[in-house]
Amino acid sequence: MTQTTPPDAFYDILRGVAALTGNPIVGDLARLVAEEMPAELWIAFNHKQIGSKRWLVDALAQVLPRPQGPVWVLGAWYGVLGAMLLGDERLAIGEVVSLDLDPACAPVAERLNRRHLAAGRFRALTGDMMALDLARQQPAPGLVINTSCEHLPDVPGWLARLPAGLPVLLQSNDYVREPDHLSCVASLDAFTAQARLSEVWFAGELATRNYTRFMLIGRR
Ligand SMILES: C[S@@+](CC[C@H](N)C(=O)[O-])C[C@H]1O[C@@H](n2cnc3c(N)ncnc32)[C@H](O)[C@@H]1O
Repeated sequence: MTQTTPPDAFYDILRGVAALTGNPIVGDLARLVAEEMPAELWIAFNHKQIGSKRWLVDALAQVLPRPQGPVWVLGAWYGVLGAMLLGDERLAIGEVVSLDLDPACAPVAERLNRRHLAAGRFRALTGDMMALDLARQQPAPGLVINTSCEHLPDVPGWLARLPAGLPVLLQSNDYVREPDHLSCVASLDAFTAQARLSEVWFAGELATRNYTRFMLIGRR
């Protein structure tokens, strides 16, 4: 028997999960879904995407829990990572700035992070990170996160534009089958060589069924 899902069903389930877990991000997601289901939200919230960002937040809590300035998340998609960074009690982050090339992302990111937006702790911008001049930002960024390195045409060229010594957290992967992936790396060593950080505080890999994700934290 085929059954259609009533429009309110996802909202009701998510509100139930928010009540069950006490996780406010699930409550924020419920409100977002009640208003509109953005294309690809189901991918941005799938278990692999959340797992890789949990891994990121756990590593950051170990090596840089108190960045000295706003955290810029580049290629930030729907702002899921911003919500996780601002919601984690182990981290002391005053503000997250979330930037993506796709103009459809910022309105969704702001709605997902509406509590933090209202508190002045979250901003979403539309722009090309390859053209971004972070040296001109006031206050100066305390950390730049890019979990979309595989999407860039020139990772070393982008890194060269960042202020020397700036703390960075980078993720890439070896998922070459995805047509939007322009700069995949075959291994953690290859990613380390591509990034050429002046200091490395964390280097690790996370295997999933179809690909391996790599992460570096350190200074540009
Ligand atoms: C598929 S998503 C995120 C993938 C990433 N591995 C993650 O989990 O965070 C990649 C995002 O990078 C954005 N993007 C690609 N090139 C960009 C650029 N030059 N500047 C800003 N955002 C960019 C895309 O618009 C897209 O929203």
